[in-house]
This record gives sequence, C-alpha cells and structure tokens, in this order.
Amino acid sequence: MSEAAPGKSPFRSAVVPAAGLGTRFLPTTKAVPKELLPVVDTPGIELVAAEAADAGAEQLLIVSSPGKDAVAAYFADSSELEKELAARGKQDLVAKVRRAHELIDVRTVTQDEPRGLGHAVGCARAAIGPDEQAFAVLLPDDLVLPTGVLNRMAEVRDRHGGSVLCAFDVPREEISAYGVFEVEDTDDEDVKRVHGMVEKPAPDEAPSTFAAAGRYLLDRAVFDALDRIEPGAGGELQLTDAIALMIREGHPVHVVVHRGGRHDLGNPAGYIRAVVDFALDDPEIGPDLRAWLAARLNG
Ligand code: UTP
Repeated sequence: MSEAAPGKSPFRSAVVPAAGLGTRFLPTTKAVPKELLPVVDTPGIELVAAEAADAGAEQLLIVSSPGKDAVAAYFADSSELEKELAARGKQDLVAKVRRAHELIDVRTVTQDEPRGLGHAVGCARAAIGPDEQAFAVLLPDDLVLPTGVLNRMAEVRDRHGGSVLCAFDVPREEISAYGVFEVEDTDDEDVKRVHGMVEKPAPDEAPSTFAAAGRYLLDRAVFDALDRIEPGAGGELQLTDAIALMIREGHPVHVVVHRGGRHDLGNPAGYIRAVVDFALDDPEIGPDLRAWLAARLNG
C-alpha cells in the first residue's frame, strides 16, 4: 500500500456518499445498507476507508440517509465487544473488530432525500474546513485496485492545479456501460486533460476509451458549481454536470489513467466477482474455494 508524503497530505477530508437507495440490491437493502455487505468478511466501506486513510485523509465524511445509521455505527467504538472477545482469548478477532474504529475519524452528514450524487457531495460542504482547497470523493461501491491512485491524483493536482478524476482504459466494445472522457494527451501517458464527458456512448461514438471510476479529487470550487446546475438525468443533481460546468468555465480537470483492476460492488454480479476474487487470495479459504469452484465448473 502506498503512503502520503509526510507533511504534504493534499487533502484532509474524504467524502464517501452512501445515501443512495441501493435498488440494484433489493430486497437486501430494505434492511442492510449495501455499503455493509461483506467482501469475504469486511464491508466494502471499510476497504474504502482504509484507502482514504492510506492516502493521508484525516476525516471520512460519510453521507448517509435517515435510517441508515448502521453505516456510521460500524465505525463506532466497540470496546464492550472487544472486552468480551479478549476475555475469551480471541485476540485476532479483537484486532479485526477494532480496525475500522482506529482507521480514521468518521463523521456523518445527512442527505435527507436521495437527490443524486452531486447533491450528496454538496451535503458535505459544511463539514469541510474553509481552508481545505480540495477534498477527495470515494464511491464505496467501486473498488479500485491496487489502492494508491489518490496519491497519484494528488501529484497531478500539485502539477496542474484544478480537479483530478480517475479513469480506466476499457475495451471499446464495453464502453457503453460507462461515463466516458473526452481528453487531450499531456506529456505523461497516464495523465490526460479533460475537455468533456459523455454518458454511456455507443462504441463508435465514444470520444475515447477512458471510462470514469469512483475516485475524485475535487477543488472546493465544485460546491459553487453544484449550486448553479439544474437537476439532470433522473431529476437528480449530477456530479458530472457540475464538473462539466467547471470545465466549460476553464477550470483545469485531468484524469489519471489507472492501470489496475476494479470491482463494482453496487450490483449482485459485480459484488459476487469481488467476493470470489478476494476469497481466492485468502490463505485460509482460497485453496478450498478454488477446488470447489473447479469441481463445480466441471460438474
Ligand atoms: P449509485 O447509483 O451507484 O447508488 O450511486 P444507488 O443509487 O444507491 O444504487 P442503485 O442505482 O439504486 O442500485 C453511487 C454512490 O452515490 C451514493 C450511493 O449511495 C452510492 O454510494 N448516492 C447516490 C448518494 O449518496 N445519494 C444519492 O442521492 C445518490
């Protein structure tokens, strides 16, 4: 895992929007927020919190909805449970249970109604200090692997200013599933200047093969842009509309092309892949799972 340069953390706050309805995971999300679904034994939101902490973030701002208190509760102090586990001699479990609480300071902000990702990010405004010129946004249902791309994005902001997003280079025939960047090369092969974005284009109309991923390093100017956009697709305030407005007004936006893997935990098919992927790498359960899967596939 990578670490932020000492004394030079580019952002202090990492916003994690977690107030959506999670309709693709109904009926489970009637009662369990999708952010708490386990990737083997650890909820996706803890993996994302660890990524933010590794990149130097000091506070995690979880945007939550009324009634979704379980997400914040997951990060709360668990000393009673730890005492009970310690009394039973289960030190390994004590460490696991304590991990989330010790990772990073967690605060929740409430989004009263799911009015879109842009609106959710806007809800974090008051919790971000007036001296913080930039902040990170991590979508908790998007695992970007290996972690560390936020550090790279911070370097790009240092060099070019403005806001920095994360992209994957995906095969053209798969591009219509994504938001796609219209870009111009820079002197770094993996850094592109962004001129626009198109949602889910047909393969022959896509302006590039660079698809948006759920990591953003945003200049605080985005709050002003969010105030000035109208609801877009689905009647929701879209974060990409605010970024598009900033681009039109000359704000520099770049993408870092991340050459790695990714899991979409927001739908059952992507989630199952992630669980199998992580489980196969787990020394305790991996070997048996591999054998079972091989037999199942041949059976
Ligand atoms: P998604 O569209 O992937 O999540 O939003 P969703 O709306 O919960 O899921 P579906 O589409 O109904 O299955 C991306 C992220 O933005 C958050 C979601 O919680 C998710 O982490 N979000 C979305 C909000 O916090 N508020 C919103 O109004 C919308």
